[in-house]
Amino acid sequence: ADREKKYVIGISQCMLDDAWRQQMIREVGIEASNYDSIKVVIKDADNDNDRQIEQIRELIAQKVDVLIISPFESAPITDVAEEAFRAGIPTIITDRKVNTNQYTTFVGANNYDLGFAAGTYAAKHLPPHATILEIWGMMGSSPAQERHNGFRDALQQRTDLTFRPVEGDWRYDVAAKRLKEIDFSQPIDFVYAHNDMMAIAAREHFLAIDPVRGKELHIIGMDAVANAGLEAVADGRINVSFLYPTGGEQVIRTAMQLLRGEKVDKYIPLLSGLVDKSAAQTLLLQSERLSNYQQRIETQRSRMDELLNRFNFLRDSLSVITLL
Ligand code: FRU
Repeated sequence: ADREKKYVIGISQCMLDDAWRQQMIREVGIEASNYDSIKVVIKDADNDNDRQIEQIRELIAQKVDVLIISPFESAPITDVAEEAFRAGIPTIITDRKVNTNQYTTFVGANNYDLGFAAGTYAAKHLPPHATILEIWGMMGSSPAQERHNGFRDALQQRTDLTFRPVEGDWRYDVAAKRLKEIDFSQPIDFVYAHNDMMAIAAREHFLAIDPVRGKELHIIGMDAVANAGLEAVADGRINVSFLYPTGGEQVIRTAMQLLRGEKVDKYIPLLSGLVDKSAAQTLLLQSERLSNYQQRIETQRSRMDELLNRFNFLRDSLSVITLL
């Protein structure tokens, strides 16, 4: 069926090895399968700015029809994103920003608002003179900066608070390692992690050093994606999370609009919201149902492909016979 594909959509992913990115790729695949005319090429930079720059250059050289970039760090990826845009390739930036407006559109939730919502939630649960541990995503990536700024702005009136930052690089293993290096003889009252994987690392860390206090410690995260934080909120390991949609579906839909020559907005916002225990339980049920449907659709699609192949084979053999 490949010979019928007219357009190539290139996706440069900063990494693929976490549940959130896996979910994004799944959504991309489902949405892309609705269109016969496109082929999606995904490059995985495996947590490396230089590799991502190189891969984006390959996609530019290959003259993809639309380029989607999910940057690793904002500053290092800026120039190459501009290069693509200036080469005339419609360029969609998603999730993490670049430091330029030389791109076609940005798809993503508002991370400042997410941080602000987290701060507003925290304000309701913080005792006076609380110490807050903030576990950062990569400091060079825009969602970390914005989640931090929004959170702090929401708590501006609270001059009684103490903030302790730690860099977790968005990763469970990095957060777990860094937490072990910190002296927590002054106890923590609240943990704000920039994503759920680091929130889970915090939960495990504090349970290990003090099972009683650890169990009571208030911990919040972000993403609320299945196979990661959603289960942790549903079973009470972390208190709440905030939905951070991956936008896999929207980036493909936007790419299709660009391919059809339609104008798209410079910013395509994705919605977000607080996910508490009961919301998480509902979302989990829903996501199970969805993946069942998905599987059924995939089975039917491969059956159809098989039939189509057989049909093509028969047609080709028939035309050979007629020629004879
Ligand atoms: C996934 C991730 C998410 C986070 C996003 C921020 O790789 O770390 O957990 O919300 O990237 O860019």
